[in-house]
Amino acid sequence: MSLQIEIDRISFGYESSSLLFEEFSLSLVGGSSVALVGESGSGKSTLLNLIAGLEIPNSGSIKVFNTRLDTLSSAELNIYRRDRLGFIFQTFHLIPHLTVLQNIMVPGLLTDDSFSNIEKKAIELLRVLRLDKRKGALPANLSGGEKQRTCIARALMNDPSIILADEPTGNLDQLNTTTVIDSLLDRCKLRNVTLIIATHSPTIADKMDTSITISNQRIVPV
Ligand SMILES: Nc1ncnc2c1ncn2[C@@H]1O[C@H](COP(=O)(O)OP(=O)(O)O)[C@@H](O)[C@H]1O
Ligand SMILES: [Mg+2]
Repeated sequence: MSLQIEIDRISFGYESSSLLFEEFSLSLVGGSSVALVGESGSGKSTLLNLIAGLEIPNSGSIKVFNTRLDTLSSAELNIYRRDRLGFIFQTFHLIPHLTVLQNIMVPGLLTDDSFSNIEKKAIELLRVLRLDKRKGALPANLSGGEKQRTCIARALMNDPSIILADEPTGNLDQLNTTTVIDSLLDRCKLRNVTLIIATHSPTIADKMDTSITISNQRIVPV
């Protein structure tokens, strides 16, 4: 199986603060799922941002599909994020004046795909995430769980090869948590997608192939 993500001895800290990661390495093959656990502030969101190319390590390298992210221009990084990544943000980042359906369609509209294809895919995602009845609602009128599921549907719009999910079920009830996690795991297995999920839930961590704890700038084997 081919490696999709190779993190090789990276060190990273935000300006003026101590290092969050020091000589940190992690390799993931396509179709694998990993839970990132670790207390608040340990660097789970930061690691997802590094893999998304939103932050660049101080040293070491991150390769995705054999390409070092620090060699890409900002335009190339945008294409990488558009075509390969589905990012489920902890704080959603929905566009306030667009409806649920329109928010889900946004990543599709950045590609060359036809409007009708994009709409068809978005409607299917509405169904999978049980959002059919809310498709015309604006983000301000959604519950936390509905916002989260809209963000998840949007992340799946362009059939990503890598899904980065930042505490994606924090606002969901049991039924929706199960629906979301199972549909993300189905994608791993059926479409060879790599899933990296930051979570505090031991139940979710148990469902992933592996679980790593971020602590003291290292990974702690389970
Ligand atoms: N943009 C930023 N600038 C400076 N410090 C940050 C920034 N983002 C996060 N941090 C700090 O980095 C540490 C790790 O944060 P984060 O990756 O969000 O942890 P987690 O997701 O595990 O809770 C925290 O101490 C946080 O305050
Ligand atoms: Mg976080």
